[in-house]
Amino acid sequence: MSTATEPLRALLLESIHSDAVASLEKNGYAVETVDRALDENELTARVAGVHLLGIRSKTTITDSVLAAAPELLAIGAFCIGTNQIDLSAASQRGVAVFNAPFSNTRSVVELVVAEIIALTRRLLDKNSLMHAGVWDKSAEGAHEVRGRRLGIIGYGNIGSQLSVLAESLGMSVFFYDTADKLALGNARRCATMEELLAVADVVTLHVDGRPGNSGLFGEAEFARMRPGSLFLNLSRGFVVDHGALRQHIESGHLAGAAIDVFPHEPKGRGDEFVSELRGLPNVIITPHIGGSTEEAQQDIGQFVAGKLQDFTATGNTALSVNLPTVSLPAPAEGHRLTHLHRNTPGVLATINGILADHDVNIEGQLLGTRGEIGYVITDIGTRYTPDVIEQLRGLPTTVRLRLLS
Ligand SMILES: NC(=O)c1ccc[n+]([C@@H]2O[C@H](COP(=O)([O-])OP(=O)(O)OC[C@H]3O[C@@H](n4cnc5c(N)ncnc54)[C@H](O)[C@@H]3O)[C@@H](O)[C@H]2O)c1
Repeated sequence: MSTATEPLRALLLESIHSDAVASLEKNGYAVETVDRALDENELTARVAGVHLLGIRSKTTITDSVLAAAPELLAIGAFCIGTNQIDLSAASQRGVAVFNAPFSNTRSVVELVVAEIIALTRRLLDKNSLMHAGVWDKSAEGAHEVRGRRLGIIGYGNIGSQLSVLAESLGMSVFFYDTADKLALGNARRCATMEELLAVADVVTLHVDGRPGNSGLFGEAEFARMRPGSLFLNLSRGFVVDHGALRQHIESGHLAGAAIDVFPHEPKGRGDEFVSELRGLPNVIITPHIGGSTEEAQQDIGQFVAGKLQDFTATGNTALSVNLPTVSLPAPAEGHRLTHLHRNTPGVLATINGILADHDVNIEGQLLGTRGEIGYVITDIGTRYTPDVIEQLRGLPTTVRLRLLS
């Protein structure tokens, strides 16, 4: 651990939001920033002595990078996805990983609301005609959203927020979720997806990316939708059959669609976007920007910086994507030991045996396990000898031991 003269070091890459930098600096961290991603060699050369590493989606964290960072306590993925990090290697080396699973959900919801209104008013057609010099003032095919029935498939963080906003616009909300979810406001739960498709004027997908959701919505589901209804997907690209969607738009069965996510998305800015959905009338296609707002970026910066600091100070792992979830209120006095270990029978008994042998009283304790890793937080009284720490650290199952406060 650092001393007062030796602050903990944080290295933040890829232009992470300034709020994260400010928060860490305010709490005494020495922060270095880099405005781009670093490749494996560059990163390996820079991570020695770094305690917290912040990245976004373009930096890959391999086991070699982790091996070069023995002091590393935690990685903050200042984004949603964590595929760029070798999570298993991080766990084996005792490094916690945090991300920001909720920070951009409001942004997605607002885009959905905007798109539902735009499609219902046929704003795309009107806008294209005006740019072509055509003044087509007519009410035909344009509707209010008030009173229309919204069907939400997937009632999680995004689906449930959308439910509240849509009701405030006067829409009637129906939802279907495979998990037991509390209906907010006057929203009505449907027992099956078919039941929802039979009633909804607007169907919007907000399911998660579990493998079973691949191809969730195809020809059969589009065929069950009400004539003249609208379809939106801002969840995952692989859940929808875009060929089937194209046919139902071209046949006039569906009145419009808004799609933000695609099975194959271009890797970089300027790469060609190839899709069956290009060129269709009353279809909004956007480049996976549902969660891309400055507010979301700011929230991500604050949220992840907070998680990193909380973990460093208290050892709590709530919402960590790789370590067992263990959260214990910080003790008023005494010390806290956090012990990450290989998950084999008897580790807890061994730890407690060592503490008892040294006459150290346990004030509070919580254990969690996740696959091959176990994590126990133990609050002890004020008195202990260095021998206790050495014995715990020397256990064959120990991955990492930290003494806090
Ligand atoms: N377009 C974007 O930029 C953007 C931004 C953020 C999130 N997302 C995506 O939006 C989706 C929803 O995000 P969230 O934070 O609300 O996730 P979440 O995990 O909170 O909610 C997903 C919900 O879907 C339900 N579900 C899963 N499979 C289902 C199925 N087959 N039928 C019915 N319900 C099902 C789950 O039980 C859960 O309640 C995710 O796929 C996420 O990746 C997209």
